[in-house]
Amino acid sequence: MDLALKNRKAIISGANRGIGKSIALAYAAEGVHLALLGRNREACSELAQEIAKAHPQIKCVAVHVELEEPPTIKRAVEESVHALGGLDILVNCAGGAYRGKLTEIPEDAWERYFKVKPLGLIRMTREAVPYLRKSDQPRVINISGTRGREPGPQSVMAGPINFGTLSVTKALANELGPFGITVNAIAPGSTRTRRWDELVTLTARDNKLSEKEAEARLLSEVPLGIVIEPEDISDLAVFLASARARAISGTAINVDGGRTRSI
Ligand SMILES: NC(=O)c1ccc[n+]([C@@H]2O[C@H](COP(=O)([O-])OP(=O)(O)OC[C@H]3O[C@@H](n4cnc5c(N)ncnc54)[C@H](OP(=O)(O)O)[C@@H]3O)[C@@H](O)[C@H]2O)c1
Repeated sequence: MDLALKNRKAIISGANRGIGKSIALAYAAEGVHLALLGRNREACSELAQEIAKAHPQIKCVAVHVELEEPPTIKRAVEESVHALGGLDILVNCAGGAYRGKLTEIPEDAWERYFKVKPLGLIRMTREAVPYLRKSDQPRVINISGTRGREPGPQSVMAGPINFGTLSVTKALANELGPFGITVNAIAPGSTRTRRWDELVTLTARDNKLSEKEAEARLLSEVPLGIVIEPEDISDLAVFLASARARAISGTAINVDGGRTRSI
């Protein structure tokens, strides 16, 4: 299948680890030029160097951003577009949510996390749109989360953050469709990044289980009985960015082994 991704230009936020890193590696393998946006300068630079060494035919730059600070977002998008010479794909991956019960979440955490997602994602997209409009295959891909559709234990914050992301995805698909820009979300279930370890630990604590028993309990909720790997998400991010996904917009695809119960 020709995905027509070679020499496309992408910005990925949250690229230095977890799912974002997996998307960066998958895009590099398809010949996409990359701006890796992250807060952790060292981790971003190391990854950019690793990718540039493995794929000398692509341009790969590390760009600092602190999504809680809007001026850095504008500067990071401009710097990325300047370095890449244009923009075809924006992947908004940075984010997360404080895991815990309502009374366990510190007051300041609410604002901090919402500033990254969905607010940071909205600001990133706003800055990127003028450049995406110049592309002949423009894509926005937002990494949401299944808890946005179906809240679960410890997800009083992940619910609204990811629900907001789904809603913005739909609204922007409507608004940007006339410019040929597709906007979609990928909703991961519990994925094996460092957040998986946190989830196992909290599940063990709350249910007085060993970590092994907690992991077994979490997997029992997943019909396929598997932990989602970052590569399960990045494979879909490759397809959604490709020419073959030209008719897909305004939707959110769960990658959760079937855990979400609703249709
Ligand atoms: N893993 C899961 O189970 C799961 C499930 C559902 C949804 N998701 C979503 O998938 C996305 C990636 O998750 P992940 O598990 O890969 O997370 P992760 O390993 O915790 O990585 C989060 C990324 O976001 C960046 N980030 C956080 N706050 C930032 C800020 N203020 N400014 C700039 N960058 C910031 C982090 O940068 P630093 O390294 O500098 O902190 C890091 O690169 C998130 O949006 C998350 O909500 C994940």
